[in-house]
Amino acid sequence: MGKAKMYKINSVATFANVFQNPHYTNPVLLNNRQQPLNLKGVWRTAVFKNEKPLVLELACGKGDYTIGLAGMNPDKNFVGIDVKGARIFTGAKTALENNLSNVAFARMRIENILFFFGTHEVDEIWITFPDPFPRKGDVKRRLSAAPFLEKYKQLLKTGGVVHFKTDDLPLFHFTHESAKEFGAEILYYKEDIYSTPLDFQELAIQTHYEKQHLSNGKTINYLKFRI
Ligand SMILES: C[S@@+](CC[C@H](N)C(=O)[O-])C[C@H]1O[C@@H](n2cnc3c(N)ncnc32)[C@H](O)[C@@H]1O
Repeated sequence: MGKAKMYKINSVATFANVFQNPHYTNPVLLNNRQQPLNLKGVWRTAVFKNEKPLVLELACGKGDYTIGLAGMNPDKNFVGIDVKGARIFTGAKTALENNLSNVAFARMRIENILFFFGTHEVDEIWITFPDPFPRKGDVKRRLSAAPFLEKYKQLLKTGGVVHFKTDDLPLFHFTHESAKEFGAEILYYKEDIYSTPLDFQELAIQTHYEKQHLSNGKTINYLKFRI
């Protein structure tokens, strides 16, 4: 591992706004003093010290959406979740430097999310540019496959929504079908979102991966559904 990556991984473990599950087989979340914490069901009060709605960004990478949404929505709390500490480092550092008190990050595998968040604790989920896993044998690994939707259903409050943004059209179509088969209500479906003026400002946030896809001439697609 390179020195820069090692520095980020070591630093992020000391950030007050980051919680980590370093050993995936042991469902324990550690704070920046490496003390175990049980935040399940109490993220609002224990982390954010308020009762505002809780929004998760899954597979957040560098946390671009978490940071962007938090700036636009001071009336909500945001948690960016990714398995890679070196990526979370970027968003968590930005949040600390800008005193964004409505932002936290959690390093964990999304497969394990129900260990760390309570039933109906979450108001909204954003998933932006997840890995497409194009091979048929990898369908279950897609973050919009039924086993993940089942987890989101448990996490979300009644009426809670999932926002899904991707450049990958096969994954976009798969997600649309997967949501419908799951019984979700499709609230918004748009291919090539930048072909017309955006309908709401949150769509204008661009992630690290989105910028790369746009510079490679790809189009961007967005789906919103209620589970
Ligand atoms: C293609 S990147 C997109 C990152 C970010 N959303 C963006 O648009 O820049 C996919 C991210 O998903 C994370 N990831 C993939 N599978 C995951 C899992 N099962 N649990 C947690 N994170 C995962 C990876 O670490 C990576 O940062």
